[in-house]
Amino acid sequence: MHAKDAHGYFTFPKLEGEISNKMIFRGKEKLVWSLNNYLGLANHPEVRKADTDGAIEYGFALPMGARMMSGNSNPHEQLEAELSKFMSKEDTILLNFGYQGMVSAIDALVDRHDVIVYDSEAHACIIDGLRLHMGKRFVYPHNDIDNLQKQLERATKLVEQSGGGILVITEGVFGMSGDQGKLKEIVELKKKFNFRLFVDDAHGFGTMGKTGAGTAEHQGCQDGIDIYFGTFAKSMALIGAFISSEEQVVEYLRYNMRSQIFAKSLPMPLVIGALKRLELLRTRPELKDNLWKITNALQSGLKEAGFEIGKTDSPVTPVYLNGTIPEATNLILDLRENYDIFCSMVVYPVVPKGVIMLRLIPTAVHTLEDVNYTIKAFKVIQENLKAGKYNVDKIVTSIS
Ligand SMILES: Cc1ncc(COP(=O)(O)O)c(C=O)c1O
Repeated sequence: MHAKDAHGYFTFPKLEGEISNKMIFRGKEKLVWSLNNYLGLANHPEVRKADTDGAIEYGFALPMGARMMSGNSNPHEQLEAELSKFMSKEDTILLNFGYQGMVSAIDALVDRHDVIVYDSEAHACIIDGLRLHMGKRFVYPHNDIDNLQKQLERATKLVEQSGGGILVITEGVFGMSGDQGKLKEIVELKKKFNFRLFVDDAHGFGTMGKTGAGTAEHQGCQDGIDIYFGTFAKSMALIGAFISSEEQVVEYLRYNMRSQIFAKSLPMPLVIGALKRLELLRTRPELKDNLWKITNALQSGLKEAGFEIGKTDSPVTPVYLNGTIPEATNLILDLRENYDIFCSMVVYPVVPKGVIMLRLIPTAVHTLEDVNYTIKAFKVIQENLKAGKYNVDKIVTSIS
């Protein structure tokens, strides 16, 4: 309904120039808080060089075909081996895209005798994987461990009859609210119930844990994660993804994941680029330290200024305001045009009606000056919002 008015501004905006804290939007420099370039690797000189070298040496055609048929290579296998080591898991399978990979992994891992139990705020790729599942699925309210126990009791009764298994699926860091999945508590439940745990750690890989190995490392329960999913699309600033698990599971996925068997494998420059990024992620702790310095300054500054940032305990920083959708568009317009701040706006149905969520993603390439400037601007727009200054009865058409 609103696509025409929103296109090019609120939706499908074009951010141009080098990927950094400041980029060009509609010809003017903006301070950008909406890219998952957590570690600032997107424009790191060593990364740019590796990407260029990979493209020059191999081109984007190589390898041709799916991994299983004619699309395998030593760099693909090397990347899998390095990821396994980094994740402390036996084996790893590369995925062409995170989204399709998750859908397809869920499809491959369960059959109609199995039961899936999942968090109600699970990402679309988990929900779409569930749509392919022929057996039962039970949802538990977001991070509600008591309810998860109830669902596990129900699931256990079912699989006792069907002879199947139980797969619990949740996330490491929830990408909208920024709170962590209660992985440690879920792992504890393995003492009472027989299930396997599949964690989508798209936002946690590279950002959480002492070494950057993710949310389970941060919570001290890496061994309890049976199947770990990470994407290259966020902290690694690339494309592609991976699943690390025990050898038997990964081997099964290699021969049963339809998204990998029936699709061309990752082009060589992406694999070469991923190897470089993984090396930097592992060996340059200052990147993650910078990310957290900016994250802590942003989140504590917003809280001190009286903003509601919910339950985040990751770099993902939501700011919750109250207002209508037209007000949200007017507010974003003001932020972008008069304060040169570009951040994402999230409204109903992702958040409840009447809530405007501004989602900020701090990165290692932001500065403390960026943080202070943004908090000051946010204070003004919040006052304007409360004073009814953004109150219009219809969605603002940006370009006008
Ligand atoms: C939680 C979660 N899972 C999976 C994905 C999909 O990853 P990719 O961008 O690699 O397809 C995303 C990315 O938006 C995500 O946030």
